[in-house]
Formats: sequence, C-alpha cells, structure tokens
Amino acid sequence: MKLSVLLLCALVAVQAALLAAPSAQAKGLQVGYYNKKCRKGVDVEGVIMWHIKRAIKKNPRVGAALVRLVFHDCFVRGCDGSVLLEKSAQNPHPEREAPANIGLAAFDVLEEIKADLERKCRGVVSCSDILVYAARDATKILSRGHIDYKVPGGRLDGMYSSAYEAQAELPDSTFTAQQLINNFARKNFDAEEMVILSGAHSIGMAHCSSFRGRLTAPSGEINRDYRNLLNYKCHQSANPAVVNNVRDEDYKTVARFMPGFKSRVRKIRDLFDNSYYHNNRARIVSFNSDWQLMTHKDTVEHVHEYAENATLWNEDFAESMVKLSKLPMPPGSKGGIRKKCSIVSHPLY
Ligand code: HEM
Repeated sequence: MKLSVLLLCALVAVQAALLAAPSAQAKGLQVGYYNKKCRKGVDVEGVIMWHIKRAIKKNPRVGAALVRLVFHDCFVRGCDGSVLLEKSAQNPHPEREAPANIGLAAFDVLEEIKADLERKCRGVVSCSDILVYAARDATKILSRGHIDYKVPGGRLDGMYSSAYEAQAELPDSTFTAQQLINNFARKNFDAEEMVILSGAHSIGMAHCSSFRGRLTAPSGEINRDYRNLLNYKCHQSANPAVVNNVRDEDYKTVARFMPGFKSRVRKIRDLFDNSYYHNNRARIVSFNSDWQLMTHKDTVEHVHEYAENATLWNEDFAESMVKLSKLPMPPGSKGGIRKKCSIVSHPLY
C-alpha cells in the first residue's frame, strides 16, 4: 500500500515537472534569433517589417487581421503556425475550418513574406516566427509606434492542425466573464492579462453572427443607440462585418444613430489604443464577452485602470503579447520549417 502511494506520488511529480518545464522550443527562443542565420545583408525582421508596412498601406484591414491571427495560432497547440495550414486531402478539417476562426485573414500576406524569405534565405525562417513578427509590426504601425516590443524567434512549424481542437481551445464571444477567465487560465494567463489582451478589440471588424445576442440585449448591457446602429448595419446584407470600434464607423451612420458621438469618428481607421476600455465603460462594445468584463470583480477594476492610463496599457499589452508569442507546442511535438505556410512539407527536427 505504502509503495503504491509512493509510486503514485512519484508519477504525479514527474507529470507535474513535464507540464511545468517549457518545451525545448520555448526554451530556445531568442531575441534577434535570425541575426546571423542568413547570408550577409539579409535582415529577416527588416524584410518582414517592409512587407507589413506595404501590405497595410495597400489594405489597412491586414493589420487587425494579423493581431487576431497570432492569438488564434498561439492559443491552439502553441505558436506553431498550425492556423496557417490549409485544408488538404490528408487533413480535411484544419483549424481554419473551425467556426471560432470565422473571418481570419491576411494568410496571403504571410505567404508572400515566406516566399520572399525563401528566396533570400532558404529553409531557415519558420512561418510561426513570421506570424509573430508580422503581428508585432502591425501592432507598432497601428499604434503609431506607441506599442513597440522585442519578441524572440526560433519557433518551429507544427505538423498538425485540427478544427475540433481550435473550437475547444479558443474563447467564444458568448462566454461569461468566468468562462473567459477559465479559458485564459488554461494557458496560464490571469484575469488582468485577459483584460489587457482584449484591448485588441479597439481595432478590426466582426461578423454580425459573432454578436447576434447583443442586438436584443437589454439597455443595461448595451447603449440603446449603439444597439440600434448595430441592428441597422446587420440588416444591410447577409451577415455583414461591422467595425469593432464605433469611431471607425462611417460618419453618416454615426450622425444618424449616435449624433453625440460624431466628433469621435476618425478619418484613419484602426488606431490601436486604449479606447476599447472607454467603449466598454460606455457600453458600446460589440461582443457579449467584451461587455462581460464589466460584470466581474476580477476584471472590471482593470477595465477602469486601463481606461484611465493609456501608457500603462501600451506597456502591459506589449508584455502580454510577448508572453502570448512564447506559448510552446504541446510537450513531445515535432516541428520543422515549412516551404509554404499553408502546407506541411518539411522534414522533422
Ligand atoms: C477574450 C476573448 C476573445 C474573444 C471571445 C474574441 C472574439 C472575437 C470575435 C468573435 C471576433 C470577430 C470575428 C468575426 O466575426 O469575424 C474577434 C475579432 C478580433 N479579435 Fe478577438 N476575441 C478575444 C480575444 C482577442 C485577443 C486576445 C486578441 C489579440 C490579442 C484579439 C484580437 C482581435 C482582433 C484584432 C479582431 C478583429 C480582426 C479583424 O478585423 O480581422 N481578440 N474577436
């Protein structure tokens, strides 16, 4: 009896150590990882920034898409580029097919960067690293340089991608505050970090199906004029996408439904700042999951904190993005460097 208890304790200890130990990949990550990995004159991070600047100039929607994409990659099997894999005969249901991944975009931009880097430095730069750097660069550009962080490289691309897994791991916009807290806790993010990262909803767009319940929510939960605006937008076509931040809305619609808000409408869309917290306090956020942050004692204080301190949010968002970008692949996973981001083509390392 004593021996079996001892054995059990030893087994639990080994398992705990395995879970606690960062995978070899997360341990090997380094700031400036690619500095000496390619021939002289090839600045990998510089090449990525060049492409991202150009892509956002051509299509401003790309920036928000990249910020969301890195979250959806890293929360499922760690940051391994698994969200980038396309459906194939071998894998008919990759992550991209999951309902939680509705609206993901900017895959073409990453594929372009990958092709360029393959020409300049063959077989060296992983798609997962390209995504992490691209999201960092998009954040810097959209925040006008206010959110600027160094992030390590050295990730490998994974082999697996499952829609089922993505659906099980990613938070849903209908979640309660407690469900959101539990979901982030599984990745070792506390309630404050969840509030910090949710600030990314100051940019980008969402399909009406992602906030259907808000269209009839009581006025205690959503500003009545904003709800009318959303209802109007959502009835323009079948499941259109609407901007997350009302200040990005077109002037005429705001003048019609929220005239008191007209002066806040911006010429330049997707300015990345702490306005999400102001919007949340004013009950003008689209998802139920956003509004939920006002309802829980562990989250509401942080909504107020970040509404009142823009600089603190810039710094804390940067820190949380670095932490997000370090989420490792499941223990024992094998990876490699893909030739194309959408297809598994690499030998194992
Ligand atoms: C807290 C839990 C979260 C939930 C429930 C959630 C849910 C969603 C949903 C439903 C959409 C709209 C999808 C669509 O209908 O097209 C969306 C958009 C977006 N999310 Fe989240 N999200 C969460 C956290 C995050 C985090 C942590 C980030 C990044 C750090 C993020 C960044 C974005 C961005 C930038 C968009 C706009 C994307 C675009 O315009 O292409 N979200 N989110």
